[in-house]
Amino acid sequence: MIAKRDGREIPKHIAVIMDGNGRWAKKQGAMRIFGHRSGVQAVRDITEGCAELGVDHLTLYAFSTENWSRPQKEVDGLMNLLIKTINSELPTLMKNKVRLTAIGDLQGLATGVYKKLSLAIDETKLNKGLNLILALNYSGKWDLTQAFKVICGEAIKGTIKPEAIDEDLVSNYLSTKGIPDPELLIRTSGEMRISNFLLWQSAYSEFFFTEVLWPDFRKKHLNLAIDSFNDRERRFGKTSEQLDFQ
Ligand code: FPP
Repeated sequence: MIAKRDGREIPKHIAVIMDGNGRWAKKQGAMRIFGHRSGVQAVRDITEGCAELGVDHLTLYAFSTENWSRPQKEVDGLMNLLIKTINSELPTLMKNKVRLTAIGDLQGLATGVYKKLSLAIDETKLNKGLNLILALNYSGKWDLTQAFKVICGEAIKGTIKPEAIDEDLVSNYLSTKGIPDPELLIRTSGEMRISNFLLWQSAYSEFFFTEVLWPDFRKKHLNLAIDSFNDRERRFGKTSEQLDFQ
């Protein structure tokens, strides 16, 4: 059941494609990394907003498997920003009982980033509040591919029978195992695509697109997204009439 707050349904899981940092910086005549740095304030505000609303899981698409093809200087800047942000935000995460987790090919991150991230994950693991999931070196196709590899390995060993493979089993081999699919997926900056994010998990997500660039995204925009989510009729393949009789 989705929790209710102020007469609104609050999604258990919100996923966000944080987009528009580069354009935001360009508008100010600044370097792209300035946009990413400014995006951290939006991360803070939205994390706080989700915790206040009682959202259980917030997944932020922070670095995709495709982002490695950006200029090296920008990639390095993003990785340094990640380390710096974990360092500066860890006390606030602890204070607010936020549990930090991550999905993606984490072994593919630079050792310094991996170590810092692992330490923060370990330090926050007993926190019972919001689960803040950073998607790092993540893509939906990577996630499905790694799941297929493991499932096929098990099938060859005989520990999984091909006829036992169903949707629940596949979900259990994805990096989001145990986390409900996002009911709401937000993308900022006016782009309207999924960009290889949670491909399997977003099968029935409600999408909310906004022109607002990520560094400008705040709790009021989050609330507009939740209002829009509340206006949707989620039919899951059924008809409106069938829903009326539920
Ligand atoms: C997309 O904007 C943004 C990213 C690829 C990185 C997101 C990173 C942050 C918000 C900062 C740090 C985050 C954490 C969790 C510490 P873009 O560069 O694609 O913008 P553009 O489309 O305008 O060029």
